[in-house]
Amino acid sequence: MNAKGVIFLSGKKVNLRPYDREKDLVNCQRWINNPEIRVYIENVFPITLQQEEEAIQRLSSDPKTVFLIIETKRGIPIGVMGLHKIDWISRTALTGAFIGEKELQGVGYGTDAKMTLLNYAFNALNLRKINSGAIAFNRRSVAYNLKCGYHIEGRKKRQVFRSGKYWDLILLAVFKKDFLKAWKEYQKQP
Ligand SMILES: CC(C)(COP(=O)(O)OP(=O)(O)OC[C@H]1O[C@@H](n2cnc3c(N)ncnc32)[C@H](O)[C@@H]1OP(=O)(O)O)[C@@H](O)C(=O)NCCC(=O)NCCS
Repeated sequence: MNAKGVIFLSGKKVNLRPYDREKDLVNCQRWINNPEIRVYIENVFPITLQQEEEAIQRLSSDPKTVFLIIETKRGIPIGVMGLHKIDWISRTALTGAFIGEKELQGVGYGTDAKMTLLNYAFNALNLRKINSGAIAFNRRSVAYNLKCGYHIEGRKKRQVFRSGKYWDLILLAVFKKDFLKAWKEYQKQP
């Protein structure tokens, strides 16, 4: 892997960069179809390579979306993260993400990618409040959001059907001032 490729945002453990069809399309399709990832995100249908390509093209050309690939500092693509539904009047957006390589979850890459993306959202795009949602059983997603300065704002009761049951959707949000506190602490860590 080329560690000298395009970098858009540089974190401590990961870089975030624009999608590159040749490097990323097959990975993205593999990740989004993986039952261990799919259970946590919106998509529940099988996605062909062509559908995935069209979906990413739509995201990449949507002015209300910032879609980025997460890669390790050694240039290995490991997942995706984005700002969606950017509202330039209310200055809000919604984050969506996954670390597609299961064995690389839980080692801090998601937190680093999210902190780096939030820094961009607040300090480059001048957004004000970033929202996120997690299905109630997704404790790791709730945990990493809380680490990034989010607070739980509420829950949509029995909103999502997964694994034969209805689950609450936990609604989280972070304002710039809370992010800045978390960012300051995060910068102190090695
Ligand atoms: C959610 C996700 C993006 C988080 O990224 P990650 O790199 O795995 O998370 P991190 O390693 O940065 O961990 C963040 C925190 O989660 C907590 N955590 C880790 N594993 C956990 C687990 N199995 N259960 C509960 N909490 C857990 C820890 O508090 C950790 O903080 P720590 O550094 O203090 O230990 C990633 O796990 C993922 O892609 N999951 C599948 C798809 C998904 O859920 N996407 C989000 C949809 S809302």
